[in-house]
Amino acid sequence: MKKIVSSLCFALLAGAAQAAPASAALELCDSHGLVRGAEIAMDNGCFGCHTLSSKRVGPAYREIAARYRKESVSPETLSRKIKRGGSGVWGTVAMPANAISEEESDVLARWILSL
Ligand code: HEC
Repeated sequence: MKKIVSSLCFALLAGAAQAAPASAALELCDSHGLVRGAEIAMDNGCFGCHTLSSKRVGPAYREIAARYRKESVSPETLSRKIKRGGSGVWGTVAMPANAISEEESDVLARWILSL
């Protein structure tokens, strides 16, 4: 169920630029903590390299979530990785450091782990 909601919210938010999404649907997404993370990701170009469920330049968010939930990686650790960037974990392409605040990075880390 959680996966269905997060997929729907993803599609909804990705389309938000074209059409105003139904407010009831947005409320549902918000209640699952899925809005703010997606907004920060959109504002900071994360979707240029990542998508929800397929590899682009970087790994899919769901792959990241599955791996780090299994390894019990904390949101704090993931947050640091997002802010600093890095390489060699998923392949040969590096992620540059992201110019975001610590608070934004924390929201992003928790959001990704919840997908
Ligand atoms: C220029 C492309 C690019 C952008 C922009 C980008 N990423 Fe990445 N990201 C990557 C690549 C490539 C990797 C894999 C790095 C590796 O193998 O260590 C990655 C890895 C990650 C990881 C996993 C880190 C790890 O050590 O396992 C997370 C989480 C992540 N990105 C989140 C984000 C978020 C959130 C944003 C936006 C603030 C973002 N990325 C922006 C390319 C990008």
